[in-house]
Amino acid sequence: MTKPTILVTGGAGYIGSHAVLALQRAGYGVVVLDNLVYGHREIAEKVLNVKLVVGDTGDRALLDNLFNTHNIAAVMHFAAYAYVGESVQTPDKYYRNNVVGTLTLLEAMLAAGLNKFVFSSTCATYGVPKTIPIPEDHTQNPINPYGMSKLMVEHILSDFDRAYDFRSVRFRYFNAAGADPTGQLGEDHNPETHLIPLTLFTALGRRESISIFGTDYPTPDGTCIRDYIHVSDLATAHVLGLEYLLQGGKTEVFNLGNGSGFSVKEVIETAREVTGEEIKAVEQERRPGDPPMLVGSAKKARKILNWNPEYPNVREILAHAWQWHQKRHQ
Ligand SMILES: NC(=O)c1ccc[n+]([C@@H]2O[C@H](COP(=O)([O-])OP(=O)(O)OC[C@H]3O[C@@H](n4cnc5c(N)ncnc54)[C@H](O)[C@@H]3O)[C@@H](O)[C@H]2O)c1
Repeated sequence: MTKPTILVTGGAGYIGSHAVLALQRAGYGVVVLDNLVYGHREIAEKVLNVKLVVGDTGDRALLDNLFNTHNIAAVMHFAAYAYVGESVQTPDKYYRNNVVGTLTLLEAMLAAGLNKFVFSSTCATYGVPKTIPIPEDHTQNPINPYGMSKLMVEHILSDFDRAYDFRSVRFRYFNAAGADPTGQLGEDHNPETHLIPLTLFTALGRRESISIFGTDYPTPDGTCIRDYIHVSDLATAHVLGLEYLLQGGKTEVFNLGNGSGFSVKEVIETAREVTGEEIKAVEQERRPGDPPMLVGSAKKARKILNWNPEYPNVREILAHAWQWHQKRHQ
């Protein structure tokens, strides 16, 4: 039996492109909607060879046309802006794109009779955690407009479920990292703000040093601890979440992380081992708004979705990212 076609918004971006690959490998048809503000046309068209509609989730006429033209069964929604610092400086930009854009997409789905939605939420919706590892029922108290924009969408999705029987799976990711193990896809954000790619840029000589913000946190080596989750494991979870909805599953929320944390210093040290490069690190003051430790419990996704991360090891995550960056920036 042929599998249905899934609309992937933001499918030319980092996590979305890995989800497209996972869907293709699982036999689904895929249409990508991406405005290419941050996405890469050649990744969608040349590497993934997927149908790319260049457009915005806020464009209702385009969405209506897209749903009329393609026989879409469900939507995976990755499209959003995701720079925390920028969201503090220009919150309007974040609320418009991440909330209004998503609401427009949801309304177009309702009009097209669609009710299955997989949403990229974030651990940033928790704010400063009270317990570690963070469970899904932890209070949500975001400390920046980016996290708030994602929480607002979560609330919209709960209300849509009650009002319209609109089914969603919300994934709260911890730190997405790594690259497809075959080397054909990877992370290419511009500007880049994430620790692992910036560390690897330093190894490649594209940066002079990597900054360590804060060495006096209440953690074993004084640097912040984060939960890194391989992007291909995220992609697998999305296919499982989609199948859960296609099989009639009810609205649910799942953390996606490894349940174990690595400090900034540990990540840099492991990157030195993986790359064989020196990687100069410079210790700096703490940045405002960085919780000392963010580690999630993903027991629920393991239990309900039968999700089993294939690459939980940060060394492997770094090795795959290193393979990608060497190729991308040679
Ligand atoms: N990277 C992480 O560690 C992380 C962690 C938690 C949550 N997330 C969420 O995951 C999703 C994907 O993140 P990413 O790292 O792949 O980011 P990304 O910037 O690589 O991908 C987002 C894609 O969406 C596109 N896009 C943005 N707004 C759009 C719009 N209005 N219409 C159409 N396309 C639009 C961009 O061009 C880009 O290709 C985002 O929703 C982000 O908030 C990411």
